[in-house]
Amino acid sequence: MIIHPSRSNSWWKDAVFYQVYPRSFADGNADGVGDLAGLTQRLEHISDMGVEAVWVSPIFPSPMKDGGYDVSDYCNIDPMYGDLATFDRFLERAHALGLRVLLDLVPNHCSSEHPWFQDARSSRDSAFRDWFVWRDQPANNWTTFTGDPAWTLDERTGQYYLHTFLPEQPDLNWANPDVVAAIGDVLRFWFDRGVDGFRLDVIHCIGKRIDAADPPEAANWGHCPFNDVDETHELIRGLHKIADSYPGGRALVGEVFLFDLQRVATYYGTPDVPELDMVFNFPMIYSPWSAADLRARIDATMSALTPRQAWPAWALGNHDNPRQRTRYGSLDAARCAAVLLLTLPGTPFLYGGEEIGMSDAEVPPSRRVDPIGRDGCRAPIPWDGSSDHGWPGGTWLPMPADAEVVNVAEALATPTSILHLYRTLIRLRRRPALREGSFEWVDSPENVLAYRRQTEDEADECMVVINIGPEVSFPPGAGWRVCASTSGVVGDLFTGRLSAQSAVVLERPR
Ligand code: GLC
Repeated sequence: MIIHPSRSNSWWKDAVFYQVYPRSFADGNADGVGDLAGLTQRLEHISDMGVEAVWVSPIFPSPMKDGGYDVSDYCNIDPMYGDLATFDRFLERAHALGLRVLLDLVPNHCSSEHPWFQDARSSRDSAFRDWFVWRDQPANNWTTFTGDPAWTLDERTGQYYLHTFLPEQPDLNWANPDVVAAIGDVLRFWFDRGVDGFRLDVIHCIGKRIDAADPPEAANWGHCPFNDVDETHELIRGLHKIADSYPGGRALVGEVFLFDLQRVATYYGTPDVPELDMVFNFPMIYSPWSAADLRARIDATMSALTPRQAWPAWALGNHDNPRQRTRYGSLDAARCAAVLLLTLPGTPFLYGGEEIGMSDAEVPPSRRVDPIGRDGCRAPIPWDGSSDHGWPGGTWLPMPADAEVVNVAEALATPTSILHLYRTLIRLRRRPALREGSFEWVDSPENVLAYRRQTEDEADECMVVINIGPEVSFPPGAGWRVCASTSGVVGDLFTGRLSAQSAVVLERPR
């Protein structure tokens, strides 16, 4: 089947996105923690790659029980990162470099330190009581992402409150119009400041049928599949209307942590009644590194999204999962992953640090920070080979063990590094075939993913060949020239020989 991605002019369809984990990106005040000043100073690292948009993980005031996904004030900046003035300078610099900025909004829950919850738990009569979900007894058997019950007794007022995540992250009650209005105001606050959109954390969870019958045990983390209810779609349509009321098209990208791609696709809404502009595709992140699995998941994505004219968002990692080099087992595999991510039809999201081929850090028990063990992929980015790697105040998490050789300066100085591969691929994406061309599988050996991308008028055509197995020969016909490759060699006619874990992007010489 040939698939033609639907494409109307929206900046986010053409952009490559880069996820910044701000605590680990760059440290401007040498206190061992990344911050907005550091990020602003190092923004050119991102824009020089050809990236056009950044998504910054939460930078709002937070007690940091869940790495900032526990927000105690939605309209401010955590002092660890700076303040609103530092943020404005960051945004201005990003825009000047041609980078759009997405913030990370966490609408399902806030921190137990948020004044809304502090007030709500002060008495059953609090004006904010109904902003959260209270019951005399746990209303269902839902569990959190740690596997513990999702209901905690509030001793003072004698009722249980719901928390899909940690007890320090009470769920907001989206059945209450005041909550809907308050989060709408948060969107406007940041849009008015000039942000270009939001990544919306676990957005599929905001509507809930709390008193419905207990669901059976779900295979994947607790109850989430059961939270996939119609009420949520209406709420998302409301958020989309707010985004739409601003000029320039502000993007809403949703984290919909579901594994049934047909269900995931419903979160795009329809062209007439839009919901999210893009929705992350988790089956890809969780795919084994095998051609058959990846092919099946790409097919499932395309067949779910194409009928809805929905635009795919591809990610192969984020701050919640081991890095590609660690997960897929080698730097060569991570290079192949770069080729895959940047040549599929849709918008790629690249997790900061992947561009230099970082591995997860080994984090000894005494230095662990995250309650569910995601520290390894959140380690600071080593900027150079010096003893502090560009972090003169130390680092809040240990660096990966190989930082002396795997760092930004080294990657820049090495023409065949994965960083230069990323740069080449991002430049290549400006070609019409890769930006908007059709997608069609090409018959290939078992461990090889091969696909063709072609513009409608057939004027531009590329072929992508990714070998996820041992060395193999795959001559795809005469006359294909290599325009990007994991080995770094380009310009030659393709011989059809692919070493183990290697990939090429091919073009027809014109
Ligand atoms: C999302 C975030 C994750 C966080 C969770 C709760 O899955 O990516 O880091 O722990 O939501 O907010």
